[in-house]
Amino acid sequence: MNLKKRTKTLAGLCLLAGGLAAQNVCVSTPRTSLLLKAPVGGELEILYYGQKLADADLAALETDGGMGAAYPAYGMNSLGETALAVQQADGNLTLQLVVEDVSSTEAENSSETVVRLKDTLYPFYVDVCYRAYKDVDVIEAWTEITNEGKKPVTLHQFASACLPIRRGQVWMSHLHGSWANEARLAQEPLTAGMKVIANRDGVRNAQTDHAEVMFSLDGRPRENEGRVIGAALCYGGNYKLRVDTRDDECHHFFAGINEENSAYVLEGGETFVTPELALTYSNEGLSGASRSFHRWGRAYKLAHGERLRKILLNSWEGVYFGINQEGMEQMMADIASMGGELFVMDDGWFGDKYPRDNDTSSLGDWVVDKRKLPRGIEGLLADAKKHGIKFGIWVEPEMTNRISELYEQHPDWIVKAPGRDPVQGRGGTQLVLDLSNPDVQDYVFGVVDELMTKYPEIDYIKWDANMSILNHGSQYLPADRQSHLFIEYHRGLEQVCQRLRAKYPDLAIQACASGGGRANWGILPYFDEFWVSDNTDALQRIYMQWGTSYFFPAMAMASHISAAPNHQTSRVVPLKYRIDVAMSGRLGMEIQPKHMTDAEKELCRKAIAEYKTIRPVVQLGDIYRLLSPYDHLGAASLMYVAPEKDKAVFFWWKTEHFYNQHLPRVPMRGLQADKLYKVHELNRIDTQPLPCEGKVFSGAFLMANGLELPYNHRVNTPSAYASRVLYLEEVE
Ligand code: DGJ
Repeated sequence: MNLKKRTKTLAGLCLLAGGLAAQNVCVSTPRTSLLLKAPVGGELEILYYGQKLADADLAALETDGGMGAAYPAYGMNSLGETALAVQQADGNLTLQLVVEDVSSTEAENSSETVVRLKDTLYPFYVDVCYRAYKDVDVIEAWTEITNEGKKPVTLHQFASACLPIRRGQVWMSHLHGSWANEARLAQEPLTAGMKVIANRDGVRNAQTDHAEVMFSLDGRPRENEGRVIGAALCYGGNYKLRVDTRDDECHHFFAGINEENSAYVLEGGETFVTPELALTYSNEGLSGASRSFHRWGRAYKLAHGERLRKILLNSWEGVYFGINQEGMEQMMADIASMGGELFVMDDGWFGDKYPRDNDTSSLGDWVVDKRKLPRGIEGLLADAKKHGIKFGIWVEPEMTNRISELYEQHPDWIVKAPGRDPVQGRGGTQLVLDLSNPDVQDYVFGVVDELMTKYPEIDYIKWDANMSILNHGSQYLPADRQSHLFIEYHRGLEQVCQRLRAKYPDLAIQACASGGGRANWGILPYFDEFWVSDNTDALQRIYMQWGTSYFFPAMAMASHISAAPNHQTSRVVPLKYRIDVAMSGRLGMEIQPKHMTDAEKELCRKAIAEYKTIRPVVQLGDIYRLLSPYDHLGAASLMYVAPEKDKAVFFWWKTEHFYNQHLPRVPMRGLQADKLYKVHELNRIDTQPLPCEGKVFSGAFLMANGLELPYNHRVNTPSAYASRVLYLEEVE
């Protein structure tokens, strides 16, 4: 049970809102309001969500009709999509939820409003909850569904929230993709009928579609103008987003756990808490909504959202499974010499009876392979210390292989359909451990706990997850609870993460899942960042990172300089361009430095030093996306501005190359019009400085005109690629 003590303050809420009718409840952030109609004994409706309401508007709106139910339930007068559908023990499939009371609690940075709905026939309650932040424009909405009867009730549908969106020229932006092509931006107008975005992976939920969307209310989406509603479901498991457009005045948006094959039996006295749906509203376009998500994420969701991330080298693309002591030390020496701060040893370091030489075996056998690393992790930590950097390590704790000592000892720990052979994943042998089982939870916790207990100097864990639940079945859950597997898996994972965070609050942990499979706000409270994609091709990364930046801040987006030709696309991209793309996220390297020339190392050394200067702006600043690669205008550009507006970093990448090409000049955004900024190009390779180098411009000029940038680099060996990073600093 998760019932909190609350004060019933219906009257108090009304007083606060001044002139508001006793039945209306207004939930506000600094610049947004959500207005609910909550008549005791009647249906809970949403009257309004958008720009903050003045008292006069509140009073006037009270007579307006509602836009739609705030949490429509199935069964009585419910022809449209519903948020909740249940079956009582006696077979009754209907619910009729009416408002019982409204309460609110205040915390330092947020206020929580709970509208308690009660069924008119059964002792069945739904608390519709809203948490409004006082310093960021985000309202989190979720429900707590309680069966106070004696017999179980089966939940067949249990969305987190519903939001009616006034019809008009509404367009939806969402992220779509696949392995090595994650987070591609898709934008389309909402039309009559149903639009559904769903995930059924079981383990990772962001590799294909994402659980976040934006709605542009004023026609074709624009980055810096127009009204936008953003919605992000804070959940790591299967989800479903629905937009139901019937012949009424609103699109009806629903978001929550995907209920397919997940019917949940709610025992008498039990409360089911749905994941939060984070909502934001901006009248500064898509970028405005992103800035709110980023601020909220850094302040309230992301692990260590206030802490600057280290610059690292990860061993994967450099050596793949070819781990050995000398190789690791050489990579550590190289990254240290280039100014990096952390080295991460990826897959391939473990396994005793079955050494992990490729992806066909050993997951679960988390003991050092002494043939490869005779001095063990101790030796690696000593090397890292010698080179003045930190050390991190790769694990994939939720998984095993059919060829592993773990599986030999615990065949009952894997996810598997009763009576059938398990479906095997990566390498033809990978298996998912059943996190609904408390013994498995203990074991998964123990994987990291043992490493950290033995080697407390480990600074960073790369936590990978490379398989989906491909056979529905738990060897732990009873026959009548098999449909709980997807939900219990993620509850189990969250339990493990909570235990780890309680014991290791400072540890940096990356969420990797075959690349970007775990970029979601459900998992990020326990993780510092995610690996955006296994595709490190700089040109394709511009598109993927652009999409990812809609919902996630740069500090969470691991973005690495890798080799040319690129290992995924075979594209040969000059190092300067690879650096300039990687620097727009959390900079790292994914390369074998011993194959780099001295000149290349020098360029990286310079870039790392420059990144240290701009790191606070990129990682903690506000994003302004300026020129979208998806508009195919030949270039893409975005910038980050420090909250004080005294510093900014402008990124520009050419995305197409033609002779006599006419690229748009890019006006900047987010600066202060009356401040003066000095321009300095970072990572310069040209033989001559840019015409704007060292010059001072007003914020007003830069935002009205931008700067003229040459389309090509002035270098001895020209290439098809060009990119610029400009650092702007306020001068008196
Ligand atoms: C998939 C990850 O996305 C890669 O970065 C790498 O860690 C491999 N797994 C290792 O097996």
